[in-house]
Amino acid sequence: MSTSVLDTSTGSTGPSAAGRHLRDGAFGNARNLVCRECGATQELGPFYACQECFGPLEIAYDYPSITRAEIEAGPKNIWRYQALLPVPTDIASSPNMEPGFTRLLKADNLGRALGMKNLWVKDDSGNPTHSFKDRVVAVALSAARELGMTVFACPSTGNLANAVAAAGARAGMKTVVFIPADLERAKVLTSAVYTDSLVAVNGNYDDVNRLASEIAGEEEGWAFVNVNVRPYYAEGSKTLAYEVAEQLGWRLPQQVVVPVASGAQLTKIDKGFTELARLGLVEETPYKVYGAQATGCSPVSAAFKSGHDVVRPVRPDTIAKSLAIGNPADGPYVLDVTRRTGGAVEDVTDEEVRDGIQLLARTEGIFAETAGGVTIATLKKLVETGQLDPDAETVVFNTGDGLKTLDAIADRVGPAATIDPSYAAFTATGLA
Ligand SMILES: Cc1ncc(COP(=O)(O)O)c(C=O)c1O
Repeated sequence: MSTSVLDTSTGSTGPSAAGRHLRDGAFGNARNLVCRECGATQELGPFYACQECFGPLEIAYDYPSITRAEIEAGPKNIWRYQALLPVPTDIASSPNMEPGFTRLLKADNLGRALGMKNLWVKDDSGNPTHSFKDRVVAVALSAARELGMTVFACPSTGNLANAVAAAGARAGMKTVVFIPADLERAKVLTSAVYTDSLVAVNGNYDDVNRLASEIAGEEEGWAFVNVNVRPYYAEGSKTLAYEVAEQLGWRLPQQVVVPVASGAQLTKIDKGFTELARLGLVEETPYKVYGAQATGCSPVSAAFKSGHDVVRPVRPDTIAKSLAIGNPADGPYVLDVTRRTGGAVEDVTDEEVRDGIQLLARTEGIFAETAGGVTIATLKKLVETGQLDPDAETVVFNTGDGLKTLDAIADRVGPAATIDPSYAAFTATGLA
């Protein structure tokens, strides 16, 4: 499918620091790890922090020459972009959840309600466990396998727990999933159904994340998808950018609005757009990236508005629990991307989140979870405050399914009337 230009001198096919021999092409066209802070490079392996400065690592590639036709001939899931991910060429043949290629809907009704001319919704609730997390987990699972890790794990605000538990079950791996004990009941059940090893921790997500880091340091062979295999995991979000561009007919939208928790999704959507232009798969056109947070957990929005580069941690208090990360790992990079592209980061109250869920449902028939409510409400606010151009082509991301957060709208919606089964009773409602 693609012309591999893997540089084997970089150590990607040699033994990792863990002493394991990686198979040839284990990470496809990925070349090495590179520090996002100081730029130092490191061989591919089970590493996530820079040896020089402890900064976060990300994947660098020897980019292949690849055509649109080659991509279009691939499977109708994220593996059609295999050549641009840190996964082997035979990835599609190993048991996985095959996420991706979710619908991109032209949202004319929502556009009219918001006074926007050219609006699309990328609806990622259609993934196997109903959120975009299936994308990142599929890539992390491949890395965990290739690195010879034996336990598949994560700290999660809910959706990741669903995705890891399901993917681990399908892969036949031992899976242990950690969540804050006060998570939405549906997210607890939709994780527990796949695994007996769901651990509820008394604390918020940041406490759970600290515990996961400690366990990763103590236990041999545990792959915490968003901790110690994070560089691989995060790359899965690039597929959102690839799909949007491909579904638009191989071009970049002018504006995107993306929910922010850790911020990894937003920064990787930017990376995905940049790669497509660099590879000549789309014309290089300017785009603006906007971030969306709930006011009850808005450390990145606060930093953006105050003009600071430092993202100060907060204690989350919002109904948007999937976005409730008080100390976001990618926060500073979200500031970089949004400022560099001319976008912004905004936040909305819990009431606005509920309004956003209802607005999307009643205009486009899409039932979003609270993260989607945050994103739609933020889009509205960005238009109303003149921060986003209502005439420019805009893609807004719905990243999770409303059936997981029913409580958020339970006291707002219900039957218009409860009547006896008679025509007279019906006409009395005034709905005829
Ligand atoms: C539904 C949903 N959308 C968006 C996000 C934000 O993702 P990120 O942590 O990459 O910013 C999350 C994170 O858990 C999520 O569950």
